Amino acid sequence: MLRKFVSWFEIAALLAVAVFIGMLFLNDPTAPPATPAAAVEAAGGIDGGAIYGNRCAGCHGGDGSGGIGPRLAGKVVTRFPDPAAQIAVVRDGRRGMPSFATRLSPEEIAAVVEYTRTVLGS
Ligand code: HEC
Repeated sequence: MLRKFVSWFEIAALLAVAVFIGMLFLNDPTAPPATPAAAVEAAGGIDGGAIYGNRCAGCHGGDGSGGIGPRLAGKVVTRFPDPAAQIAVVRDGRRGMPSFATRLSPEEIAAVVEYTRTVLGS
């Protein structure tokens, strides 16, 4: 009886450690690269990189290399030749990808999408 309790306890403790280590990897601490001043100006003063850092980096990685969400860096321009299609995914969401329609303005969504297409690479 006591032995059984201990083994369940050990399993729970091991699971907790595994989850903790997993979260350390998923919660990528890499800071996103800064948005060039010209790009902020072109977006009417909206800093796409700052939005990316606050809203997207937790799932897609600070450098866009992926995590809970897929890699964006170096991929989105080939995957979405038309930026409107990429904007639609960010606005409307898709399966594990949350919708940002009520949390970001259309201008903010356009700026963060532009950031992933340019600063994070094509
Ligand atoms: C809660 C985690 C999470 C957050 C926050 C998040 N994403 Fe996602 N994102 C995902 C997941 C998961 C997918 C894959 C969806 C699927 O499988 O259809 C995804 C997919 C995408 C895609 C499509 C990628 C492809 O190759 O088709 C884009 C573009 C994208 N996200 C951009 C963003 C942007 C920009 C932000 C911030 C405004 C953001 N995501 C925030 C989880 C997230």
